[in-house]
Amino acid sequence: MPSVSARSIQDLRKPAILCSQRYNDAARQPTIPSLDLDKALSIEVAVETEGLYKVYRGSDRPAVENVTVSIPKGRVFGLLGPNGAGKTTLLSMICGLLQPSAGSARVMGHSVAHERAKVKRAIGLVPQELAIYPGLTARENLDYFGHMQGLHGQALHKRVKECIFLAGLEEFSTRRADTFSGGLKRRLNLVIGLISEPAVLVLDEPTVGIDPQSRRFIHDTLRSLNARGMTIIYTSHYMEEAESLCDELAIIDRGHIISQGSLDDLLRRHRSSVIELHFEQPVSESTQRRIGALTHVRSIATEGKSIILRSDLPQTTLHDALDILRAEGLDLASLSMGATNLEKVFMTLTGTRLRD
Ligand SMILES: Nc1ncnc2c1ncn2[C@@H]1O[C@H](COP(=O)(O)OP(=O)(O)O)[C@@H](O)[C@H]1O
Ligand SMILES: [Mg+2]
Repeated sequence: MPSVSARSIQDLRKPAILCSQRYNDAARQPTIPSLDLDKALSIEVAVETEGLYKVYRGSDRPAVENVTVSIPKGRVFGLLGPNGAGKTTLLSMICGLLQPSAGSARVMGHSVAHERAKVKRAIGLVPQELAIYPGLTARENLDYFGHMQGLHGQALHKRVKECIFLAGLEEFSTRRADTFSGGLKRRLNLVIGLISEPAVLVLDEPTVGIDPQSRRFIHDTLRSLNARGMTIIYTSHYMEEAESLCDELAIIDRGHIISQGSLDDLLRRHRSSVIELHFEQPVSESTQRRIGALTHVRSIATEGKSIILRSDLPQTTLHDALDILRAEGLDLASLSMGATNLEKVFMTLTGTRLRD
């Protein structure tokens, strides 16, 4: 168990709020929001940020720099980036947990800076670190967090039951959370974020370190919530997850969003610029440096015995790279041009694998 203090658990759960949706118990399906209905129906954008910027105290470079995004209602929006890219910092500012150094954010039309109570009511967070009390049972955890969100009596009792059902935790509801497997803990972590039935659910790497069944369970739950109108913001290290779950993706690196769009958009936009060179042996660092220094090369990444390049002028770069290989007496096993999947696009944009 991570050592999370009671106080920090409460902080992590701050944005989860009083409900604006009702669940159909039998089908584990939320129905249309009942609170603030007129306003909710008239808003097209669930989350928008304008020039969000964050420099942590004592740091000489921003963790998030000038991020402007607009996430329409009903989307599953994926935020992809390597460790340290700024994902958690960005989400924390959107949720109102972290004050931006500059810029602003709105959630379901409400200003994060000026309408905190309304934002809390609209957004639920599933944090990267498990935010559950290990010494409490699943039911007690849900009771506690529901209570903190303003639920009481019958309403709380009903909602806890729904969440236990939604997470498939019926058999485990009276067991202490510290006896749970990683997957069960993640499921409990998920439904605690849902206790107040938010319009927007934010998940920060929710499937790290869990078994494939629990991962599938979480994905199916998210798809079903989204099919009934919940907007979902999802960060992940797992490229395949993002490909299968998200209808829009933003790639973030060193605090910047460097590309954004649907999976097809991203592949189309970057495909023509990618060159892959496959060798029989790993290529020396000096050769990589020479190829990386070619005029039109934007980025270079290595994967095993392969080099993956992104170039502004791929034909010229290919020509020049082959000259270098010839001069060094290196033979190619094969080569290809055009990125074929998100992992390749990501590598060529950031120079790193996503799962470092
Ligand atoms: N509380 C903090 N104080 C100082 N620096 C931080 C703090 N939290 C994160 N950082 C730094 O900000 C950058 C972005 O971190 P983070 O948002 O956690 O990235 P990610 O979630 O993509 O891994 C990193 O360089 C990280 O070291
Ligand atoms: Mg993070």
